[in-house]
Amino acid sequence: MNILVIGNGGREHTIVWKLSQSPKVSKIYTLPGNGGTAAISENLSGSVSDFHGIDQYVKEKKIDLIVVGPEVPLVEGIVDYFEAKNIRIFGPNQQAAQLEGSKSFSKKFMQKHGVPTAEYEEFTDIEKAKKYIQKMDYPSVIKADGLAAGKGVVIVQTQTEAENTLNEIMKNQVFGAAGSKIIIEEFLKGEEASILAFVDADTIIPMVPAQDHKAIYDGDTGPNTGGMGAYSPAPIVNAEMMKKVQEQVFDRMLAGFKSDGLLFKGILYAGLMIHKGELKVLEFNVRFGDPETQVVLPRLDTDLVDIFNAVIDDKLADINIKWKDNFAVCVVLASGGYPGSYEKGKIVSGLEKADGLVFHAGTKLDKKGIVTDGGRVFGVTALGSKLTGAIESAYKLVDKINFDKKIFRTDIGKKALKYIK
Ligand code: AMP
Ligand code: GLY
Repeated sequence: MNILVIGNGGREHTIVWKLSQSPKVSKIYTLPGNGGTAAISENLSGSVSDFHGIDQYVKEKKIDLIVVGPEVPLVEGIVDYFEAKNIRIFGPNQQAAQLEGSKSFSKKFMQKHGVPTAEYEEFTDIEKAKKYIQKMDYPSVIKADGLAAGKGVVIVQTQTEAENTLNEIMKNQVFGAAGSKIIIEEFLKGEEASILAFVDADTIIPMVPAQDHKAIYDGDTGPNTGGMGAYSPAPIVNAEMMKKVQEQVFDRMLAGFKSDGLLFKGILYAGLMIHKGELKVLEFNVRFGDPETQVVLPRLDTDLVDIFNAVIDDKLADINIKWKDNFAVCVVLASGGYPGSYEKGKIVSGLEKADGLVFHAGTKLDKKGIVTDGGRVFGVTALGSKLTGAIESAYKLVDKINFDKKIFRTDIGKKALKYIK
C-alpha cells in the first residue's frame, strides 16, 4: 500500500521510519517532510493546511492511507475532509480535535467526566481577568485557549507578570485569535509524564509511558521549548500509576466520548502532572508527541500499519500490541538561540558516522547536503537494556553530529536514575 504522512518534524521522520519497516508498505510519501524523510520516503512539497492540494497528490500517487502528524491540520478538519471522500485517514475528526484545539473545551470535558485536572477559570474579557489576578494565589498559570505551537502557556510568579501576560495575549494578541479566550489555572507541583494511547470508537490502548524535557537548559531551567529530549519508559509511571491513569483518565474519557457522542479515533496524548502518587491531567493532545514519538515507536514490536488500520476499522480490541522491554533515550540537537530566534542553513557534518537512530526535525537536503532548517534539528535516539546504557549511547551519537551553534541538554534521562538504573 502507498502511505502519505503529513508533517515535517522529528515525530514524522520517526513515523515514516517505523512504517517503512512494514512488509505491507510499497511506498511512503511525506508532505512536506525534511532531510531525513527524503532518504526513506519521497517528499512532496505543499502545505499541511492545503487539503485540496493534498487531495491532488492522493489521486496522483494512489495513496491508500493518510497519516496526520501535527495538530494544526487536525484542528482544521483534515480528517473530515478526506473521510467525506472515502479516503482512509488516521487521526481524530475536527470535533474531537478540539480536545487540543481549545483548552476551554478540554477543561470542560474533563470536569464533566470526572477526569482529574487543575482548578481553573476562563475569561474573554481582559478587565474581568485583571480583577481576578488581584486576588489569586501565585505562582499561577495563564493559557491561551487556542493553538499556539506549544508557546501559549505562561507560568506567572507575580501580579505584575500576570498583568503583562494578559496584555500580551488578550490585548496585543501575540498568539492571534488563539488568545481571545484565556484560562487561568492553579499551578501544579510534581513531575510530568506523557502517556499516549491508541483510540478507536470502543477501545483505548495506552502506549509505554514517556517523559519529555520541555525547558531549554539542564535542570529544567530556562524557557519552555517544544521538547529538548525524552526517555521511555518513565519509571514514575509504575504499574500502580498506570492503573490510575487507565481508570481515572482513559476509561473516563472513553465513557465521556460515548455519552457526548464524540467520535475520537487516533492518538490521545495525556500530559500528566504526578505528585505524591496522585495524577492530574495538564492537557490533552490529539496526536503523537514530539519528541516522545522518538522514544516510544522504536520500542514498538507490532506493525504500525496494522495498528493504524485497526483504529480506522474500529478493531483495536482485536490486536495485541507488543513493546520491547528496553529503554529509549532521545536527545534533541537544536540551533543556538532556540526557542528564540536562530540561524538556518548550517551544514551538518558527521551524519555518516552516526550509526544509530538519528531522527531529523528541522533539516533539509540541499546542494551542500543536509543543512539545518529549524529550531530543533535532530532527535538522536539510542536504545539499551539499561537506562544508563541508553543515555551513554545517545550522547555518543550526539558527539558525532556537528553543525555551527549546535546546542543540547546534557541531562536527558538523568532524572529517572533516582528511580532506576
Ligand atoms: P500544556 O501545553 O498545557 O501542557 O502546558 C505546557 C507546559 O506548561 C506543561 O508541560 C507544564 O510544564 C506547564 N504547565 C501547564 N499547566 C500547568 C499547571 N497547571 N501547573 C504547572 N505547570 C503547568
Ligand atoms: N512534547 C510535547 C508535545 O508534543 O506537545
